[in-house]
Amino acid sequence: MYPTSRPRRLRTTAAMRRLVAETTVGPHQLVLPVFVKQGVAEPVPIPSMPGVVQHTRDSLRKAAAEAVAVGLGGIMLFGVPATRDATGSGGIDPDGVLNTAVRDVRAEVGDDIVIMADTCLDEFTDHGHCGLLDAAGRVDNDATLAVYAQMALAQVQAGAHLVGLSGMMDGQVGVVRAALDAAGHHDAGILAYSAKYASVWYGPFRDAVESQLRGDRLTYQQDPANAREALREAALDLAEGADIVMVKPAMSYLDVLHAVAGISDVPVAAYQVSGEYAMVEAAVARGWLDRRRTVLETLTSIRRAGADLVLTYWAMQAAGWMR
Ligand code: PBG
Repeated sequence: MYPTSRPRRLRTTAAMRRLVAETTVGPHQLVLPVFVKQGVAEPVPIPSMPGVVQHTRDSLRKAAAEAVAVGLGGIMLFGVPATRDATGSGGIDPDGVLNTAVRDVRAEVGDDIVIMADTCLDEFTDHGHCGLLDAAGRVDNDATLAVYAQMALAQVQAGAHLVGLSGMMDGQVGVVRAALDAAGHHDAGILAYSAKYASVWYGPFRDAVESQLRGDRLTYQQDPANAREALREAALDLAEGADIVMVKPAMSYLDVLHAVAGISDVPVAAYQVSGEYAMVEAAVARGWLDRRRTVLETLTSIRRAGADLVLTYWAMQAAGWMR
């Protein structure tokens, strides 16, 4: 008795496996998140993210040019300001660290890669929250929306192709869309962090941006226990005009990613976040995992679950391995 159905036939050679592979990952589907720090003369390594630095203005320009050279799809900019205040005014200032960096990068690479900027206040506030606080110290949703509108406008004026709304305020996509349109920026797009969870996996990022946060983001970011509300969040963002919706983190939320991909009529992104990077790098440093195979498997899995594009700190290395 021999089995007549033999799935293994399609695994016999590398050529056969390549022929039938359902999921591919290319450099053009990867977005590199980068940090730029105000007032430093040399790039500053981030200990919890080995291989990742806080850039100077100059090193950022070089990194952007290298991203273009390897064919990446995008670059996402985060600013680390030298000073912070209660309203995060550095995020709106055209000469603030992030807006300056966007201008630098646009001058360096033009339209050769999609330039994205983080539209969120947490890097710029002295309390570390993603919005303004009311008298009781709670994050004030509607007061924050007005600031996001100004911040997004400043980023687009500086040269961002896409603004990355990562603050999880209700109505943020609609307010920012209206502000961009009112200023004539109909072609500037919105990457909406639609389903962003209150996740432990952001830990190393908070080192990277020198976050001042004490406490947590549980009143605005989503509860890891919930999948259904991710669909509600995505539906709202789509109705408000999101051009791309995102799920974040990636690897612990592949079910959510798959569900959002199932309802979205715009491209879906996933953010493989700092903790996912740190976890693998820690194991690689001990010789417990093979970096290349691990990274490529995670990216393939994120694409298989439904992501059209992936933000990953390994974008440069991964693009090199894909050549
Ligand atoms: C908020 C923001 C965060 C990340 C991206 N945008 C941090 C947070 O919500 O606390 C995390 C990204 C990562 O961990 O790699 N501006």
